[in-house]
Amino acid sequence: MAAPTRGAVVGESVDLADVQGNILRGYRKSMVRHLIAQVIDARQASAWVGATAGPDRSLAPAITDAAHWGARPPDVCFNLGITFTGMQALGVPPSAMSAFPEAYREGMAARASKIGDWGDSAPEHWIPWFQASDAVHLIVTLHADTAALLDRFEKDMMAGLAGRAFRIRGRNEGAKFNGDEVHFGYRDNISQPRFAQVSPPYKLDGQPLAPLGTVLLGYETALEQLQWTLPDPPVLGFNGAFNAFRVLEQDVPAFENFLDRAAAQLLASPLADSLLAIGGAGDEASPSARLASMREVVAAKLLGRWRNGTPLALSPRDPTPSPRVSDTDFDFVDDDEGLKCPLGAHTRRTNPRGARIVQRIANHTRRLVRRGMPYGPRWDATDRDADERVERGLLGNFICADLSAQFEAVYYDWINLGLQDPRITGSNDPLLGANQEDASWFDVVTSAGSVRLRGLPRFVRTRGGAYTFLPSISALRWIGSKHPLNPAPR
Ligand code: HEM
Repeated sequence: MAAPTRGAVVGESVDLADVQGNILRGYRKSMVRHLIAQVIDARQASAWVGATAGPDRSLAPAITDAAHWGARPPDVCFNLGITFTGMQALGVPPSAMSAFPEAYREGMAARASKIGDWGDSAPEHWIPWFQASDAVHLIVTLHADTAALLDRFEKDMMAGLAGRAFRIRGRNEGAKFNGDEVHFGYRDNISQPRFAQVSPPYKLDGQPLAPLGTVLLGYETALEQLQWTLPDPPVLGFNGAFNAFRVLEQDVPAFENFLDRAAAQLLASPLADSLLAIGGAGDEASPSARLASMREVVAAKLLGRWRNGTPLALSPRDPTPSPRVSDTDFDFVDDDEGLKCPLGAHTRRTNPRGARIVQRIANHTRRLVRRGMPYGPRWDATDRDADERVERGLLGNFICADLSAQFEAVYYDWINLGLQDPRITGSNDPLLGANQEDASWFDVVTSAGSVRLRGLPRFVRTRGGAYTFLPSISALRWIGSKHPLNPAPR
């Protein structure tokens, strides 16, 4: 954190055409491909990076910016993240790099202990191309609706300058399998921070609008009008954002097995009938119907939303209330005990909204823009055994202006330690925390008492990732044209 710096803009509108599109807009495409690239020729690589923001399409495809698309959206959306070692490999001068923050300079693997990447999530167990983290220089992200479009784009790109500039070390591909559903069966992609300067397509909800400095460098943040430091020259940082790219494997069979066990425990407790969903299985229902209904209650308590997305804060007993309730316009201020949404639920941990938390200043200040896509096939509940060894998970991008104060603080304080409230301190996020079956717990609280669920294994394993910077369009151009080896890109 630093005092206001050169290039900082307070209260001004943003030039959307200068910002990479994936920061401020969800593309709504059904497939994603992340190419993990290593620079093999600094001069050609920097020329290519610059050309993505220049007029000559024979050199590089055009980066997708956040300006409005008009009638015809691009078939393929193309964005670029650069790691710190990538900046070095591109030849960005050290003088320009010294003001980049420590988390970005160190990289994701070196920060493993802050973000729960230990045990079999530790970097030495990652997918090979992420293990050699110094060789992860660029992450080229492509979104499209068909594999053919992605293939053609990649082939054309690599046939030109990019093919001489980079080596593709690996690919991480994701695809939607049922709208916004992710593995574990939840609907995702509902809650995002909303920014005053970027009105449509955002709808308002009850939370304060996030200042632009929540996600872009160079603007006022939610923290007492301070701004994050810009690198020197400011053009390199201004309108850029940091991204924590994570490959998170999800153990769906273990999750579904846990729902069985936890549901059985709750059904055997005196709280069973006060927990079962309205319209679900009452006293007279068959044991299997009661189990099925209670499994959904457990799934909802762990997340803070029913699997269809309905927030527990607005509809704690009914997944399909009539009339419908808002998906986004809710708070936890009137639910201090967690009777509706548990204090430890994933969404309440990662965004406590207005709830009373220990770090009072942190309410609303650690917001993350999330862009994710599942990978691997949807789990088939009718064929539990056959499917168990298939890898599936989430390709997640957690975008913010400061990795340490936002992404890592959420992971370290809230997901893994539960420091926001003494009543959950010592427990981890039930969905993705670094849980251990013999020690972890999750409390389900009702007005008649509470039940502590135990035996939570770790459901989400980190398979790799990297901290990247998503430079502005001007910064991409600067990288291309100001490179000491490359004054005149070919
Ligand atoms: C495999 C891993 C993960 C899964 C399956 C998952 C799933 C979900 C789902 C289903 C939602 C509710 C939909 C919504 O509100 O938009 C959600 C919300 C959210 N998740 Fe995750 N998530 C994962 C990892 C993460 C990580 C690593 C972080 C942060 C470091 C995170 C932060 C959030 C935040 C901030 C919200 C929105 C909370 C709100 O504003 O109400 N998630 N997640």
